[in-house]
Amino acid sequence: MLPVSATAPEPERIARAAAVLRAGGLVAFPTETVYGLGANALDAEAVAGIFRAKGRPANNPLIVHIAAKEQVSQVVAEWPRIAERLAMRFWPGPLTLVLPKQPRVPDIVTAGGPTVAVRVPAHPIALALLQAAGIPIAAPSANRSEQLSPTKAEHVLHSLEGRVNLILNGAPTPGGLESTVVDLTQSQPRLLRPGLINLTELEQLIGPIERATKAAPDDAVSLPSPGMLRRHYAPRTPLECVEGDGRSRVEQLQGSGVQVGWLTFGARQAFPGVIGVALPQESAAYANRLYAVLHDLDRAGLGRLVVELPPDEPVWLAVRDRLYRAAAK
Ligand code: TXA
Ligand code: MG
Repeated sequence: MLPVSATAPEPERIARAAAVLRAGGLVAFPTETVYGLGANALDAEAVAGIFRAKGRPANNPLIVHIAAKEQVSQVVAEWPRIAERLAMRFWPGPLTLVLPKQPRVPDIVTAGGPTVAVRVPAHPIALALLQAAGIPIAAPSANRSEQLSPTKAEHVLHSLEGRVNLILNGAPTPGGLESTVVDLTQSQPRLLRPGLINLTELEQLIGPIERATKAAPDDAVSLPSPGMLRRHYAPRTPLECVEGDGRSRVEQLQGSGVQVGWLTFGARQAFPGVIGVALPQESAAYANRLYAVLHDLDRAGLGRLVVELPPDEPVWLAVRDRLYRAAAK
């Protein structure tokens, strides 16, 4: 684990990480969303290492990170006008675009499919690493498959210790939730995964976007992209979502001897014997805290987490999606 400044990354430390990547190794690094587990996207052997380290099923394709929009042609075969408009507005940033892939992108990156997911991250460490390495970097979230995404280097260490060559420790990630994934290979743009950039912002720029997932429990069952597992982003402690504040459910569980963690939307009156965490009522602040709180509660050895859902409104789409997936059996 190598500490690196998140605002002014030390060039010699970045160079060391870049050398590991160029030699086919695995480097975990912060992005503006969550920590990623990176490998040279053009080296099939190196990318195979990501799947092994995570225990990730081979049918779940990876996001390729590039240093600048001007480099898309390295991995993408077609760049429609709509992609250009989205990239102009949202890159660097938490928007991932799915487009037809360049033949040189190894099949293992795209799970054998004809499309590739690509984004330019908005984090000084991620960008410095991409520039120094001079290669596109395939990077899923740096956690074991299905588990919670890491927002701190210690989460990465906890989940992947002994399985990666280097972890760049660059402070907690500012976003705290993954990027929004939009498929541009069909006649109409399609939202594959809600994320930090909300649907409303995207639609204001490019018009209607088809929704492959909705923030409802049943919809999370559909699989819009090959790797979109219903259960995902999950703590080990069983978690359930409730509409309303959940107080009666918490009391009921407690009455039957279950140790409960209660995640509320804004402040609620606490009661003894229950670990209560009040999450912010503003969506970006909530997203920033959610995984870190779940990681912490997961280590408290509780029997159940009860989560009060935020409102069913567009700005909460990504948060509700993650909570439903975390609750899925
Ligand atoms: O914020 C993020 O996106 C983070 C940081 C590290 O960039 N990465 C991340 O990667 O969340 P991962 O692997 O945990 O999630 C990638 C998502 C998966 O749901 C995957 O199925 C989808 O993107 N995906 C990747 N390539 C795809 C493709 N060619 N077609 C459709 N979906 C794709
Ligand atoms: Mg992930």
